[in-house]
Amino acid sequence: MPTTNTMTLAEVAATSLTAIRHLEQHGLDYCCGGKQPFDEACRAKNLDPGAVMAGIEKSAAAANQDTNWQTAPMRDLARHIIATHHEYLKLELPAVGKRLDKVHSVHGPKDPALWNRLAEVYGGLRSELELHLHKEEVILFPFIEQYGAAELAGQPAPPVPFGSIANPIAVMEREHAEAGDALGEIRSLTNNFELPAYACTTVRALYDGLQALEADLHVHIHLENNILFPRAIAFERR
Ligand SMILES: [Fe+2]
Ligand SMILES: [Fe+2]
Repeated sequence: MPTTNTMTLAEVAATSLTAIRHLEQHGLDYCCGGKQPFDEACRAKNLDPGAVMAGIEKSAAAANQDTNWQTAPMRDLARHIIATHHEYLKLELPAVGKRLDKVHSVHGPKDPALWNRLAEVYGGLRSELELHLHKEEVILFPFIEQYGAAELAGQPAPPVPFGSIANPIAVMEREHAEAGDALGEIRSLTNNFELPAYACTTVRALYDGLQALEADLHVHIHLENNILFPRAIAFERR
């Protein structure tokens, strides 16, 4: 176990996604309050720093997936993203959409400002993401797959038809930012997923689905923006 007494919250957060999830669960602000020493921040919340760190270590060892992506073959990461996060969206985007349609038609008149706008924002997010997944799978990822093969074979990056891999990556990153904005609007429209008084089972299932979608998309975008894409660009520039 690392010595927690010298680490800040931001340093702990940077160790893994698992660490981030634990910090969030404990309400420890690693973002704006990231400079706080980990130990002090835990004690201020009546938490035992050693126990929190042990929890992080235990889950990180069990998940054993986030820290390795920095060094695992690029091809494995690309395949993991498609098999895990793209497949998730392909199942969940329509399922959550169905729940929203139902809620919109049943509860729409009770709070038109919320439900009309939520339907609009979600509809936009869904169609943008479906197109985005398609672009990644048909245009960008096949070349990343080739880069991954070259990486494993110890060869240089093969040429790409769009000048540099950085070009389609820049487009994907812009789309990620737009998806992030839509997620942010969904969060604020729903008041951080606080259920309205008239919430039925479908509203609950809808909010759960939206929240899970947000969490999955954050991890998905993190893996692409912060690990896979920089690795592909660095590999090309070697
Ligand atoms: Fe993706
Ligand atoms: Fe993406």
